[in-house]
This record gives sequence, structure tokens and C-alpha cells, in this order.
Amino acid sequence: MQHIVEELIQTLKLLVTPRRLRHIYSCCNFARKLAKLHRVDEQKVTVACLAHDAFRDVPASKLLKIARAYGIEPNEMELAHPVLLHGKVAAEYLKRRFKIEDQEILEAVSAHTSGKPYMSEIAKIVFLADSLEETRVYEGVEDLRKLAEQDLDEAVIQTLRNKICYAVKKEYLLFPQTVEMWNWLLWNKRPRPLTVNDQDGVEGG
Ligand SMILES: [Fe+2]
Ligand SMILES: [Fe+2]
Repeated sequence: MQHIVEELIQTLKLLVTPRRLRHIYSCCNFARKLAKLHRVDEQKVTVACLAHDAFRDVPASKLLKIARAYGIEPNEMELAHPVLLHGKVAAEYLKRRFKIEDQEILEAVSAHTSGKPYMSEIAKIVFLADSLEETRVYEGVEDLRKLAEQDLDEAVIQTLRNKICYAVKKEYLLFPQTVEMWNWLLWNKRPRPLTVNDQDGVEGG
């Protein structure tokens, strides 16, 4: 996989801004640390991290064109905001350019923004590193980094919780896969997951 890593780095230098490159390298560093701690394949995590934002700075109209050329049919949200396609396009690029068929790498890249249910450990680490790498600065990030080092699943729940709360506060749309991921995580965590109707104090349930 070393030749893939080297070629990806060269490609990134052509495709992304210096600021994005710093984020990607920092993401790799934190993800590799987590992979070591949680005994997950470091090489797979490295390839997925290097690729995850490779197309993030490609202009919207060009990204849409590449997606279609790759056979990706954009949904309504992606048509309105083509930047949302950058993960799917990057995964398809890995498939086509390097013949990567490893589903754990591909899903980690493709779903790093929206998340998805039934995530592999590789995808969980990439999802976490994207939000928690050291150039990220926001309240509570340091605690989440520590949590990710100790308990991967709980860190994923808390990081996703932050993302969902932020989106709801700003009245942003939620991806259906994000909601599915939230339900999947909680279903696996609790013996009987709460629904809105179960909760005390919620009126009109
Ligand atoms: Fe991204
Ligand atoms: Fe990212």
C-alpha cells in the first residue's frame, strides 16, 4: 500500500489548498494514533484519511461532472450542494485509480461527512479524526479526543451528538444516513432505546 500512499500525497498537493492539506495530514496523525490504541489496521486508516477530502476543494460544477462521469447519480441534496459529493467521488477515485475494493476503506471515505449505520472500526476512526484532529478548535474537543483514545463507540456517539445538535440549532437539513447512524449507535448501546414517546416531559407524544 506504500505506493498508494505516496501517489495519494502527490495528488493531494495538486488538488487541495494548503489549509486542507494540513487538515488531512493532521487527520491522518490522529487516526493512526487511534488505530494503534484500538488495534485497527493503520495502513487502511491512512489511505482512507489521505483520500477523504481529496476532492473537497474541487469547484462545485466540476465535482458534479466528475461524479456523473463516475456513474454517481446525485440525489436532491447533492444537486443543491455538490460539495456533499466529495466523499463519494473520492471513494470512486480510489476504486478506479488504485483498484481498491476494500469495503472498509471505501465506506470510510464515502460516508465521512454523513456517517452511516453499521460502520466498520476503520470508518469510525476516520469519522472521529475528521472532527477531532488537532487543528480543530471548539469547546469540548479536547475531552472528545481523550474519550476517543479510551472508548471509540462512546466518542462516536458524543461526536455525532454534537454534529446533530449543531445542525438542528442552525436549522440545517440532516442526512437520512446521519439519523440512521444515530439510531444504530443507540440501539446497540442501550437494552431498550428511548423514543420521543418514551421520554418524560415531552408533550404531545
Ligand atoms: Fe470532508
Ligand atoms: Fe475532512
